[in-house]
Amino acid sequence: MFLPIRLLVSCLLLLPAVVAVLFGPNSETFRWDQLRPSTNLNWVECYSMFQCAKLEVPLDYSDPNVGTAALAVIRLPANVSEEEYQGPVLFNPGGPGGSGVDALVGVGSSFRVFIGNQYDIVSFDPRGVSYSTPIATFFKTDAERALWNAAAPPEGSLNASSDAIQRNWGLAQLLGQLAVQRDSSGIFKYMTTDNVARDMLLISQKFGFDRLKYYGISYGSALGATFAALFPDKVERIIIDGVLDVDAWFKANLTISATDTDKVLQAFFNGCAAAGPELCAFYKPTAAEIAERLAALTASIRARPVPVITPTSYGVVDYTVLRVTLFESFKMPYDLFPTVAKGLAELESGNGTLLYSIFANAPFECDSSTDDALPFHLNSDEALIAVHCSDAVEVKDSIEQFTAFVENAAKTSQFAEFLVDYLRVNCDGWQIHREGRFLGPITAEHTRVPLLIVTTTADPVTPKAGALNTLAGFPGSVLLTQDSPGHTSLTTPSLCTLGYLRQYLENGTLPEPGTVCPVEAMLFGVPGNLTASRRAALRTEDEQALAALKAVGDAVRSVITRGFGKRK
Ligand SMILES: *[C@@H]1O[C@H](CO)[C@@H](O)[C@H](O)[C@H]1NC(C)=O
Ligand SMILES: *[C@@H]1O[C@H](CO)[C@@H](O)[C@H](O)[C@H]1NC(C)=O
Ligand SMILES: *[C@@H]1O[C@H](CO)[C@@H](O)[C@H](O)[C@H]1NC(C)=O
Ligand SMILES: *[C@@H]1O[C@H](CO)[C@@H](O)[C@H](O)[C@H]1NC(C)=O
Ligand SMILES: *[C@@H]1O[C@H](CO)[C@@H](O)[C@H](O)[C@H]1NC(C)=O
Ligand SMILES: *[C@@H]1O[C@H](CO)[C@@H](O)[C@H](O)[C@H]1NC(C)=O
Repeated sequence: MFLPIRLLVSCLLLLPAVVAVLFGPNSETFRWDQLRPSTNLNWVECYSMFQCAKLEVPLDYSDPNVGTAALAVIRLPANVSEEEYQGPVLFNPGGPGGSGVDALVGVGSSFRVFIGNQYDIVSFDPRGVSYSTPIATFFKTDAERALWNAAAPPEGSLNASSDAIQRNWGLAQLLGQLAVQRDSSGIFKYMTTDNVARDMLLISQKFGFDRLKYYGISYGSALGATFAALFPDKVERIIIDGVLDVDAWFKANLTISATDTDKVLQAFFNGCAAAGPELCAFYKPTAAEIAERLAALTASIRARPVPVITPTSYGVVDYTVLRVTLFESFKMPYDLFPTVAKGLAELESGNGTLLYSIFANAPFECDSSTDDALPFHLNSDEALIAVHCSDAVEVKDSIEQFTAFVENAAKTSQFAEFLVDYLRVNCDGWQIHREGRFLGPITAEHTRVPLLIVTTTADPVTPKAGALNTLAGFPGSVLLTQDSPGHTSLTTPSLCTLGYLRQYLENGTLPEPGTVCPVEAMLFGVPGNLTASRRAALRTEDEQALAALKAVGDAVRSVITRGFGKRK
């Protein structure tokens, strides 16, 4: 997460690399729908420097008669001689429902900063997602999905109106029924995390490697931990970063995920007070005064929303948009806090343009081209709900029980509704649960190689508490803490973290337990604008690594944040 994502949408809007590939000169020569699925990885050139293949996998690993899915698999090929080649490192960007294809194309060769030339860097669209077939969707067309989202924004605040909880509960029931009715391919119940873990083993084996090397962020951590629990002796390297509490995941109760969310808001207040009015436009001399200033602004916006028209979008900055923008910015505070502060200050004087623009999507437009060149569906929302709720135990809160759930989660964070409650209520409506799926426990007495588990000190959606619970399930594994707020270590450059990740991938060497890494950034500083003494201490290769880390962070932004507005 979880990376609640609007990945496919935002990729189209934000990632030039993807746009270039879809609409550039390559689009004539490569189309996913024209790749023939095979039980082998038959690579063809795609997206300039990548190679793509469609791999056939059994929908149900215990019953080959159920049929198959075809996974979109992509690699950035290794760049070394045959003797030096070390096989694939799989990457999953989270979601669930995130397109690994789009994520890898977006991150591009910058990822080499972590993963050496001797590896194929590999990702894939999990079963049901994006370019993989069959696709999981409740909607018949993109227009129908856009209309649903406009009428029933999933990120709508449960506290915005007096009937919001009831309405969300009702919509979730409707979505659950739609899913049953429209699941003609039968894919939903096979999209569970255990099956995706099995797919990862199969992909690795198709490369000729019987054990997995893997890097997963956010929900990708649940996938990595599930793999380690199911196949402990197939673990060659597993790095999980931004770690979900997987047992909470399987209980459809992610209240624990919001443990540190409010800490990131506090970091905004503290950082702004420390930075001064030059660097933080929403400045007041103390953190408490900044908190008061924000509370006053929130109340004023709640009473009187502000209309906004930008060259690419339009909408209203209301209570929900203000709070969603804050919440989403918590995932990348180093990048986004200066802009958010400026947006808040301008909003205070009646101009909501900047604040609105941070996460706004362009309005939906029907595709008027007759060429059906983009047959895939933008289904990350559906996939998120389908994977989470098909994974978890069945929950069936009544409206009263859901209301109590919301009240309880609000004790953990004032932003719980955008994370915890949203997932819970959708599972309340979900009806598809496969017998015999893996429901934990997420543990293995002995994995072949211990896991490297990475957390930040204040992660707004996957707090350290989840990482510690996961760590407890895998004796011998080590937790590396990066001393920064933000979602996953990738959102803030740290040469220290980078060093440990490289060392583990290459040699299996773990950091000392309790290791804490500093970051190369200052809250409310320009990202990467280091102090003069720090800058002087850097070697040329460090400078290059920092530039690559910055590029990875920028690419990850569109993977881990979600926008709003009438989206395509
Ligand atoms: C492959 O490696 C060579 C030599 O190290 C380098 O010059 C080249 O840019 C690399 N190519 C890619 C695609 O990484
Ligand atoms: C809803 O908003 C009110 C007033 O802003 C606040 O006191 C309350 O705690 C909020 N409830 C939830 C569930 O967030
Ligand atoms: C959900 O988990 C929280 C703690 O993380 C707990 O307080 C709460 O009772 C749980 N709710 C349900 C319905 O299980
Ligand atoms: C509102 O803010 C935007 C972005 O900061 C700016 O470009 C625009 O000129 C402002 N509009 C007015 C009327 O001040
Ligand atoms: C891996 O181990 C070798 C041999 O000890 C060493 O030279 C190399 O620097 C290590 N790699 C990393 C990334 O630490
Ligand atoms: C970086 O920070 C220094 C002060 O530490 C400041 O003078 C300089 O303008 C900053 N550079 C940028 C690009 O913001």
